[in-house]
Amino acid sequence: MSCRPAIITGVGSYLPDRILTNEDLSEIVDTNDEWIVSHTGISERRIAAEDQASSDLGLIAAQRALDDAGLQPSDLDMILTPTVTSDQVFPSTACMIQDKLGAPNTIAAFDLVSGCTGFVMGLSVAAQFIESGSMNNILVVSAEKLTSVTDWTDRSTCILFGDGAGAAVMSAGEGERGETGLLAYALETYGEHGRLLRIPAGGSRQPITPELVASHDHCIRMEGPELFKLAVRGIPEIAKTVISKAGLTSEDIDWVIMHQANLRIIEAAAKRLHIPEDRVIINVDKYGNTSAASMAIALDEVYSEGKLKSGDNLLLVGFGAGFTLGGAVIRWA
Ligand code: ACO
Repeated sequence: MSCRPAIITGVGSYLPDRILTNEDLSEIVDTNDEWIVSHTGISERRIAAEDQASSDLGLIAAQRALDDAGLQPSDLDMILTPTVTSDQVFPSTACMIQDKLGAPNTIAAFDLVSGCTGFVMGLSVAAQFIESGSMNNILVVSAEKLTSVTDWTDRSTCILFGDGAGAAVMSAGEGERGETGLLAYALETYGEHGRLLRIPAGGSRQPITPELVASHDHCIRMEGPELFKLAVRGIPEIAKTVISKAGLTSEDIDWVIMHQANLRIIEAAAKRLHIPEDRVIINVDKYGNTSAASMAIALDEVYSEGKLKSGDNLLLVGFGAGFTLGGAVIRWA
């Protein structure tokens, strides 16, 4: 059975105005600009206002993506929100965005908790409904307020994260699946490494208590060096898998949008893939790690700069809490 291609018809992003520099962080914890830049490539990150939750960031990115696609909220068939920092445990942030956008009540809206691979996961899920012909327009809006779960006393993590949102509208394109739009995806899960990156308290295993809050167990806990090794090994592997599933080679890839966690991980992975640096999008220096939003923000950045041409092959690839790996190859329509 032939399928319609799922193409991206609109993108948008939103970064809060407030900038937190490495210099600012050195006044909070024992660190310095030289250490942070040399170990991570991060110079600054954005911090959402106190009254801004993830859905507020996502709403603006979503409106921008809809405008770019020339669509109204009423045109949407589904809203997917990859996030690890939902406004509340429930209802989902996707439901809040549906309400704020004024999108129809007759659509599905749900969150995807897949860490930093969330945007790839969201596009892969959305594509199934588009390709099968059961839906026409799906909003994938990744939104994160990671600074709400940052332990500001832990110098090994608080330097890494920032807030932001990115969105894409996925719609049905002309022609056949495999010719344009999402050509292939690969999603992998290594639950055995879940302990490496987690928020221990606040779920059903450890409901919040004053003691857990006092020990900051409601914040991100991370085994950085172990994650680093998994990422440097895993990203090139899943990238090769998805490039081959798309029937392409590394040389066919025009742009690489990798999860922006650490410049050293991005550079090491690009080297292993033999992809030249000038094809690799980097904005981790400005925004830090925005988890599920990171690849969506980078996509909007390269798009807004007018760099994407019709027919360009994009590789999106990332790793995240879970431990998860995700890759997608998209031919820009
Ligand atoms: N400033 C100064 N010194 C520091 C800092 C800091 N901010 N943080 C750690 N150090 C010190 C450590 O205490 C240690 O000192 P010691 O040798 O005296 O004990 C030394 O620097 C080296 O620490 P490492 O943890 O070994 O440093 P490393 O080079 O591994 O860098 C980092 C740490 C940046 C966290 C790295 O491991 C990394 O990027 N890992 C991947 C993390 C990641 O990408 N997480 C996001 C996952 S995606 C998601 O789903 C959110």
